[in-house]
Amino acid sequence: PDRYAVFGHPIGHSKSPQIHRLFAEQTGEALVYTAQDVPPECFATALRTFRAGGGAGLNCTVPLKEQAFEAAQVLTERARLSGAVNTLWWDRDDILHGDNTDGVGLVRDLTVNLEVALTGKRVLLLGAGGSARGVLGPLLAERPGEIVIANRTVSRAEELARRFAALGQVAACGFAALAGRRFDVVINATSASLQGALPPLPDDLLAPGAVCYDLMYADVPTAFVRWGLDHGAGLSVDGLGMLVEQAAEAFRIWRGVRPQTAPVIACLRR
Ligand code: ATR
Repeated sequence: PDRYAVFGHPIGHSKSPQIHRLFAEQTGEALVYTAQDVPPECFATALRTFRAGGGAGLNCTVPLKEQAFEAAQVLTERARLSGAVNTLWWDRDDILHGDNTDGVGLVRDLTVNLEVALTGKRVLLLGAGGSARGVLGPLLAERPGEIVIANRTVSRAEELARRFAALGQVAACGFAALAGRRFDVVINATSASLQGALPPLPDDLLAPGAVCYDLMYADVPTAFVRWGLDHGAGLSVDGLGMLVEQAAEAFRIWRGVRPQTAPVIACLRR
């Protein structure tokens, strides 16, 4: 069977091997998918070793997505824009290709699984780091009414807004400037929730029926998911669905067949 893996650091609780095993069972594809702890300074060596051992493709997660971007010889347009790569594969001529499936994973979870349309909506993106940059392009492709990027360091939000300005209506601000504003969809792309922390958000930020979405996921509700529930969100969810959807898109790229995600999401929620 063809060999795949996820590289990350730390990688201990990665759900990717389980997700891809379920995809393989469902589609009848013969493959092996493992998780490998790869510290940043070992990335180049680990990549070579994996390929030499018959590796066909890889996922890369924190903190290796920028290095994966640098390593790829050919990039998809969405990977180029995001400056990060989460999916790598070698073609017949041994050329290494890179894509970023995070943004489409998020959009698919929102629009298909959760039936939250983004078109015409007021969307707020919290954070301006790598995670935010990875999802902005596919979010803008849904033609929201506007996207506001709010970040602790305002200059990073402004930089991101400039980078994506050609793709749609994107503005940037700090958290204080959110006072008095309302949004239909609020997406948390800060790493704050990893430490159980939250950006300072106004209590009346959510429009009626608003959706809160945390790119992070955990076995218990994240700080941001709880904030949404406490502030009147119609729906407040973590990023488990996005995780499965970005994996499905990688699986499709590698194997040419798109697995069904709903049963896998349901299985992981149990
Ligand atoms: P990632 O790849 O997860 O996006 P990153 O590039 O380091 O990681 O970006 C982390 C994001 O979380 C940034 O937007 C950061 O804000 P700054 O740009 O001002 O640093 C944000 N962040 C991290 N901790 C935060 C906190 N305690 N409160 C608010 N924002 C926080």
